[in-house]
Amino acid sequence: MDLTSVQKAYRRLASTYDTFFGAIFHPGRKAVVENLDLSPGDRLLEMGVGTGLSLPLYPRDVEIYGIDVSEPMLEKAREKKVSHHLDNVKELEVVDAEATHYPDDAFDVTVAAYVVTVVPNPAKCIDEMRRVTKPEGELVIVNHFHSENPVLGAFEKALAPLSATVGFRPNMRERDLIEQTGLEVTERRRVNLFRYWTMLKCRNNKAARAS
Ligand SMILES: C[S@@+](CC[C@H](N)C(=O)[O-])C[C@H]1O[C@@H](n2cnc3c(N)ncnc32)[C@H](O)[C@@H]1O
Repeated sequence: MDLTSVQKAYRRLASTYDTFFGAIFHPGRKAVVENLDLSPGDRLLEMGVGTGLSLPLYPRDVEIYGIDVSEPMLEKAREKKVSHHLDNVKELEVVDAEATHYPDDAFDVTVAAYVVTVVPNPAKCIDEMRRVTKPEGELVIVNHFHSENPVLGAFEKALAPLSATVGFRPNMRERDLIEQTGLEVTERRRVNLFRYWTMLKCRNNKAARAS
């Protein structure tokens, strides 16, 4: 996966994304929002905000910043900001989640919903989440990770060469991601259909940053 193939995949997917991935991923997005420790006036950054399906779920007294590398996906998010009157959504911009322009400690919470297996370099994305989040803040991730079930696992392995076409890496292991990034998970919950996806709530252990 490189940035060009990500942008190509999501330019193709943008117009149908909500139909195919709206309802099926919705419980995971809801679980993320329900588990956030937010106070009025807090600032939240959503990495890979896509078509903005999470935006209406966030509390209205929290400032939301959304970034993505796909302009066609962001156009759909901007439409939701208008149609749902989301005045608390302050920014929806083309920014690479692996190298943002935000200063250190700019946010109380960073969220990555169905993104860490899509970005070209997941460890860099998590490092960036740590950098821009306050030391006492949290990182919340929801994603599918490689299945330990032998049949599903074999299927996902077979799909792996098609990553650039399907727009995500089907065979990334949760334990590898945690090992590579030193993520400090405080809560872990299985979500969505067949509990096939995982939500990870993490303390912002800045000291574990790789770079
Ligand atoms: C599977 S979609 C998830 C969208 C949304 N978070 C949701 O819940 O439906 C993955 C999104 O990550 C974006 N993305 C991939 N790599 C990125 C990067 N390096 N920086 C920012 N966004 C990225 C894609 O453009 C796409 O919109």
